[in-house]
Amino acid sequence: MILKTNEQVELMRQSALLVSKTLAEIATILKPGMTTLEIDNRIGQFVRDHHADLSFLGYRGYPFNSCISVNDVVVHGFPNKYELKDGDIVSIDIGVILNGWHGDHAYTFAIGEPEDDVKQLVRVTKASLYKGIEKAVAGNRVGDISFAIQDYTEKKHGYGVVRELVGHGLGQNLHEDPQVPNYGRRNDGKKLKEGLVLAIEPMINLGRKEVLTEEDGWTVRTKDGKPSAHFEHDVCVRKDKADILSDYSIIEKEEERNPDLFVASAAIESYS
Ligand code: CO
Repeated sequence: MILKTNEQVELMRQSALLVSKTLAEIATILKPGMTTLEIDNRIGQFVRDHHADLSFLGYRGYPFNSCISVNDVVVHGFPNKYELKDGDIVSIDIGVILNGWHGDHAYTFAIGEPEDDVKQLVRVTKASLYKGIEKAVAGNRVGDISFAIQDYTEKKHGYGVVRELVGHGLGQNLHEDPQVPNYGRRNDGKKLKEGLVLAIEPMINLGRKEVLTEEDGWTVRTKDGKPSAHFEHDVCVRKDKADILSDYSIIEKEEERNPDLFVASAAIESYS
Protein backbone atom coordinates (compact mmCIF):
# COMPACT_ATOMS: atom_id res chain seq x y z
CA MET A 1 0.00 0.00 0.00
CA ILE A 2 1.76 3.14 -1.25
CA LEU A 3 0.85 6.36 0.59
CA LYS A 4 1.24 9.69 -1.19
CA THR A 5 2.70 12.94 0.17
CA ASN A 6 0.60 16.10 -0.08
CA GLU A 7 2.70 17.25 -3.05
CA GLN A 8 2.09 13.96 -4.83
CA VAL A 9 -1.64 14.17 -4.13
CA GLU A 10 -1.69 17.61 -5.81
CA LEU A 11 -0.03 16.13 -8.90
CA MET A 12 -2.59 13.32 -8.88
CA ARG A 13 -5.37 15.92 -8.64
CA GLN A 14 -4.08 17.42 -11.90
CA SER A 15 -4.17 13.97 -13.53
CA ALA A 16 -7.68 13.23 -12.24
CA LEU A 17 -8.86 16.69 -13.32
CA LEU A 18 -7.57 16.16 -16.83
CA VAL A 19 -9.81 13.09 -17.05
CA SER A 20 -12.74 15.15 -15.70
CA LYS A 21 -12.07 17.86 -18.31
CA THR A 22 -11.93 15.24 -21.05
CA LEU A 23 -15.27 13.78 -19.93
CA ALA A 24 -16.73 17.32 -19.80
CA GLU A 25 -15.51 17.91 -23.37
CA ILE A 26 -17.16 14.65 -24.45
CA ALA A 27 -20.39 15.72 -22.71
CA THR A 28 -20.55 18.72 -25.07
CA ILE A 29 -20.46 16.56 -28.23
CA LEU A 30 -22.45 13.44 -27.29
CA LYS A 31 -25.55 12.96 -29.46
CA PRO A 32 -27.55 10.21 -31.14
CA GLY A 33 -25.86 8.96 -34.32
CA MET A 34 -22.33 9.48 -33.01
CA THR A 35 -20.17 6.37 -33.05
CA THR A 36 -18.21 5.28 -30.01
CA LEU A 37 -15.05 5.30 -32.14
CA GLU A 38 -15.59 9.00 -32.87
CA ILE A 39 -15.78 9.58 -29.12
CA ASP A 40 -12.58 7.60 -28.58
CA ASN A 41 -10.73 9.61 -31.23
CA ARG A 42 -11.77 12.90 -29.60
CA ILE A 43 -10.59 11.58 -26.24
CA GLY A 44 -7.16 10.72 -27.68
CA GLN A 45 -6.84 14.14 -29.28
CA PHE A 46 -7.95 16.04 -26.16
CA VAL A 47 -5.60 14.17 -23.81
CA ARG A 48 -2.61 14.55 -26.13
CA ASP A 49 -3.39 18.25 -26.62
CA HIS A 50 -3.02 18.53 -22.85
CA HIS A 51 0.45 16.97 -22.89
CA ALA A 52 -0.58 13.71 -21.28
CA ASP A 53 -0.52 10.05 -22.33
CA LEU A 54 -3.40 7.60 -22.49
CA SER A 55 -2.81 5.02 -19.81
CA PHE A 56 -5.22 2.34 -21.10
CA LEU A 57 -3.74 2.31 -24.63
CA GLY A 58 -1.37 -0.66 -24.71
CA TYR A 59 -2.07 -1.65 -21.09
CA ARG A 60 -1.96 -5.47 -21.23
CA GLY A 61 -2.48 -4.99 -24.97
CA TYR A 62 -5.65 -2.89 -24.66
CA PRO A 63 -6.05 -1.43 -28.19
CA PHE A 64 -7.94 1.89 -27.69
CA ASN A 65 -7.67 5.25 -25.92
CA SER A 66 -10.66 4.64 -23.68
CA CYS A 67 -13.28 2.08 -22.68
CA ILE A 68 -16.78 2.89 -23.98
CA SER A 69 -19.45 0.55 -22.65
CA VAL A 70 -23.00 0.82 -23.99
CA ASN A 71 -26.10 -0.65 -22.28
CA ASP A 72 -25.42 -4.32 -21.38
CA VAL A 73 -21.66 -3.83 -21.71
CA VAL A 74 -20.47 -3.46 -18.12
CA VAL A 75 -16.89 -2.24 -18.69
CA HIS A 76 -13.91 -2.47 -21.10
CA GLY A 77 -16.10 -1.95 -24.17
CA PHE A 78 -14.13 -1.44 -27.39
CA PRO A 79 -14.93 1.78 -29.24
CA ASN A 80 -16.43 0.77 -32.59
CA LYS A 81 -18.82 1.76 -35.39
CA TYR A 82 -21.93 1.43 -33.20
CA GLU A 83 -24.03 4.60 -33.41
CA LEU A 84 -25.46 5.84 -30.13
CA LYS A 85 -29.23 6.01 -30.12
CA ASP A 86 -31.99 7.51 -28.02
CA GLY A 87 -32.39 5.57 -24.77
CA ASP A 88 -28.81 4.22 -24.59
CA ILE A 89 -26.64 4.56 -21.53
CA VAL A 90 -22.92 4.83 -22.16
CA SER A 91 -20.12 4.52 -19.63
CA ILE A 92 -16.92 6.29 -20.67
CA ASP A 93 -13.79 5.31 -18.74
CA ILE A 94 -10.55 7.23 -19.33
CA GLY A 95 -7.02 6.86 -17.94
CA VAL A 96 -4.24 9.42 -18.37
CA ILE A 97 -0.64 9.75 -17.25
CA LEU A 98 0.41 13.34 -16.53
CA ASN A 99 3.85 14.05 -15.03
CA GLY A 100 4.14 10.36 -14.23
CA TRP A 101 0.88 10.17 -12.23
CA HIS A 102 -2.28 8.34 -13.24
CA GLY A 103 -5.82 9.66 -13.37
CA ASP A 104 -8.51 7.02 -13.99
CA HIS A 105 -12.19 7.72 -13.80
CA ALA A 106 -15.51 7.11 -15.46
CA TYR A 107 -19.02 8.51 -15.92
CA THR A 108 -22.23 7.03 -17.32
CA PHE A 109 -24.21 9.27 -19.67
CA ALA A 110 -27.83 8.76 -20.73
CA ILE A 111 -28.65 9.55 -24.37
CA GLY A 112 -32.10 10.99 -25.04
CA GLU A 113 -34.73 9.39 -22.88
CA PRO A 114 -33.93 5.95 -21.38
CA GLU A 115 -36.60 3.79 -19.71
CA ASP A 116 -37.45 4.77 -16.14
CA ASP A 117 -35.82 1.69 -14.62
CA VAL A 118 -32.60 2.45 -16.52
CA LYS A 119 -32.58 6.07 -15.33
CA GLN A 120 -33.02 4.82 -11.79
CA LEU A 121 -30.09 2.40 -12.23
CA VAL A 122 -27.84 5.28 -13.29
CA ARG A 123 -29.00 7.43 -10.37
CA VAL A 124 -28.50 4.71 -7.78
CA THR A 125 -25.10 3.65 -9.15
CA LYS A 126 -23.82 7.22 -8.95
CA ALA A 127 -25.20 7.65 -5.44
CA SER A 128 -23.58 4.35 -4.40
CA LEU A 129 -20.17 5.71 -5.39
CA TYR A 130 -20.66 8.49 -2.83
CA LYS A 131 -21.88 5.98 -0.22
CA GLY A 132 -18.51 4.26 -0.69
CA ILE A 133 -16.53 7.50 -0.65
CA GLU A 134 -18.11 8.48 2.68
CA LYS A 135 -16.34 5.46 4.18
CA ALA A 136 -12.93 6.27 2.65
CA VAL A 137 -11.55 7.84 5.82
CA ALA A 138 -8.48 6.93 7.87
CA GLY A 139 -9.11 4.20 10.43
CA ASN A 140 -11.87 2.52 8.42
CA ARG A 141 -11.16 -0.62 6.42
CA VAL A 142 -11.56 -1.40 2.71
CA GLY A 143 -14.56 -3.58 3.60
CA ASP A 144 -16.41 -0.55 4.95
CA ILE A 145 -16.34 1.01 1.46
CA SER A 146 -17.30 -2.30 -0.16
CA PHE A 147 -20.16 -2.96 2.24
CA ALA A 148 -21.60 0.54 1.83
CA ILE A 149 -21.79 0.14 -1.95
CA GLN A 150 -23.24 -3.37 -1.85
CA ASP A 151 -25.73 -2.58 0.89
CA TYR A 152 -27.13 0.40 -1.03
CA THR A 153 -27.28 -1.19 -4.50
CA GLU A 154 -27.96 -4.86 -3.83
CA LYS A 155 -29.83 -4.92 -0.53
CA LYS A 156 -31.73 -1.63 -0.84
CA HIS A 157 -32.37 -1.58 -4.60
CA GLY A 158 -32.12 -5.25 -5.63
CA TYR A 159 -29.46 -4.71 -8.31
CA GLY A 160 -26.61 -7.09 -9.24
CA VAL A 161 -23.15 -6.13 -7.99
CA VAL A 162 -20.42 -7.32 -10.36
CA ARG A 163 -17.93 -9.55 -8.54
CA GLU A 164 -15.26 -10.09 -11.20
CA LEU A 165 -14.04 -6.49 -11.41
CA VAL A 166 -13.02 -4.18 -8.57
CA GLY A 167 -11.71 -0.72 -7.71
CA HIS A 168 -8.05 -0.25 -6.87
CA GLY A 169 -5.22 1.87 -5.52
CA LEU A 170 -3.85 4.45 -7.97
CA GLY A 171 -0.57 6.33 -8.29
CA GLN A 172 2.45 5.94 -10.54
CA ASN A 173 0.77 2.68 -11.55
CA LEU A 174 -2.76 2.22 -12.89
CA HIS A 175 -3.41 -0.57 -10.43
CA GLU A 176 -1.92 -0.51 -6.93
CA ASP A 177 -2.89 -2.22 -3.69
CA PRO A 178 -5.43 -2.53 -2.25
CA GLN A 179 -8.21 -3.93 -4.41
CA VAL A 180 -11.54 -2.26 -3.61
CA PRO A 181 -14.44 -4.65 -4.29
CA ASN A 182 -17.98 -3.31 -4.53
CA TYR A 183 -19.16 -6.06 -2.20
CA GLY A 184 -17.86 -7.11 1.20
CA ARG A 185 -18.13 -6.95 4.94
CA ARG A 186 -17.82 -4.10 7.38
CA ASN A 187 -14.59 -3.88 9.39
CA ASP A 188 -12.93 -6.34 7.00
CA GLY A 189 -9.79 -5.98 4.86
CA LYS A 190 -6.86 -3.56 5.00
CA LYS A 191 -6.97 -0.48 7.20
CA LEU A 192 -7.19 2.82 5.32
CA LYS A 193 -4.49 5.42 5.97
CA GLU A 194 -4.15 9.10 5.15
CA GLY A 195 -2.55 9.63 1.75
CA LEU A 196 -3.87 6.41 0.22
CA VAL A 197 -5.36 7.19 -3.21
CA LEU A 198 -8.13 4.91 -4.44
CA ALA A 199 -10.12 4.55 -7.65
CA ILE A 200 -13.56 3.55 -6.36
CA GLU A 201 -15.75 2.23 -9.17
CA PRO A 202 -19.12 0.56 -8.64
CA MET A 203 -20.24 -1.52 -11.64
CA ILE A 204 -23.94 -2.23 -11.07
CA ASN A 205 -26.34 -4.35 -13.12
CA LEU A 206 -30.07 -3.72 -13.45
CA GLY A 207 -30.61 -7.48 -13.43
CA ARG A 208 -28.42 -10.30 -12.19
CA LYS A 209 -24.79 -9.95 -11.13
CA GLU A 210 -23.34 -12.50 -13.57
CA VAL A 211 -21.16 -11.28 -16.45
CA LEU A 212 -19.40 -12.77 -19.48
CA THR A 213 -16.18 -11.73 -21.20
CA GLU A 214 -16.36 -11.74 -25.00
CA GLU A 215 -14.03 -13.44 -27.48
CA ASP A 216 -12.02 -10.22 -27.82
CA GLY A 217 -10.75 -10.88 -24.29
CA TRP A 218 -11.95 -7.51 -22.96
CA THR A 219 -15.62 -6.65 -23.46
CA VAL A 220 -17.56 -7.56 -20.32
CA ARG A 221 -21.33 -7.95 -20.73
CA THR A 222 -24.17 -8.84 -18.41
CA LYS A 223 -25.21 -12.46 -18.83
CA ASP A 224 -28.91 -11.59 -18.83
CA GLY A 225 -28.49 -8.80 -21.41
CA LYS A 226 -29.86 -6.12 -19.07
CA PRO A 227 -28.07 -2.74 -18.79
CA SER A 228 -25.25 -1.93 -16.40
CA ALA A 229 -23.95 1.40 -15.07
CA HIS A 230 -20.45 2.43 -13.95
CA PHE A 231 -19.14 5.49 -12.13
CA GLU A 232 -15.56 5.98 -10.91
CA HIS A 233 -13.85 8.68 -8.83
CA ASP A 234 -10.23 9.06 -7.71
CA VAL A 235 -10.17 9.84 -3.99
CA CYS A 236 -7.52 10.44 -1.35
CA VAL A 237 -8.14 9.01 2.11
CA ARG A 238 -8.07 11.71 4.82
CA LYS A 239 -8.97 11.89 8.52
CA ASP A 240 -12.55 13.12 8.56
CA LYS A 241 -13.62 13.28 4.92
CA ALA A 242 -12.15 11.83 1.75
CA ASP A 243 -10.71 14.30 -0.74
CA ILE A 244 -12.22 13.65 -4.19
CA LEU A 245 -9.50 14.42 -6.74
CA SER A 246 -11.68 14.07 -9.84
CA ASP A 247 -14.49 16.57 -10.44
CA TYR A 248 -17.96 15.62 -11.64
CA SER A 249 -19.32 19.19 -11.39
CA ILE A 250 -17.67 20.26 -14.67
CA ILE A 251 -19.09 17.18 -16.40
CA GLU A 252 -22.56 17.74 -14.94
CA LYS A 253 -22.53 21.35 -16.15
CA GLU A 254 -22.08 20.23 -19.76
CA GLU A 255 -24.48 17.32 -19.30
CA GLU A 256 -27.20 19.77 -18.25
CA ARG A 257 -26.47 22.07 -21.22
CA ASN A 258 -26.59 19.28 -23.81
CA PRO A 259 -30.23 18.76 -24.89
CA ASP A 260 -29.39 15.26 -26.20
CA LEU A 261 -28.39 14.04 -22.74
CA PHE A 262 -30.80 13.05 -20.02
CA VAL A 263 -29.52 14.06 -16.59
CA ALA A 264 -30.31 10.78 -14.92
CA SER A 265 -28.24 11.48 -11.87
CA ALA A 266 -28.33 14.55 -9.67
CA ALA A 267 -25.20 16.15 -8.26
CA ILE A 268 -24.29 14.99 -4.77
CA GLU A 269 -24.16 18.24 -2.79
CA SER A 270 -22.10 17.16 0.21
CA TYR A 271 -19.17 16.31 -2.03
CA SER A 272 -19.32 19.10 -4.58
CO1 CO B 1 -10.22 2.03 -12.58
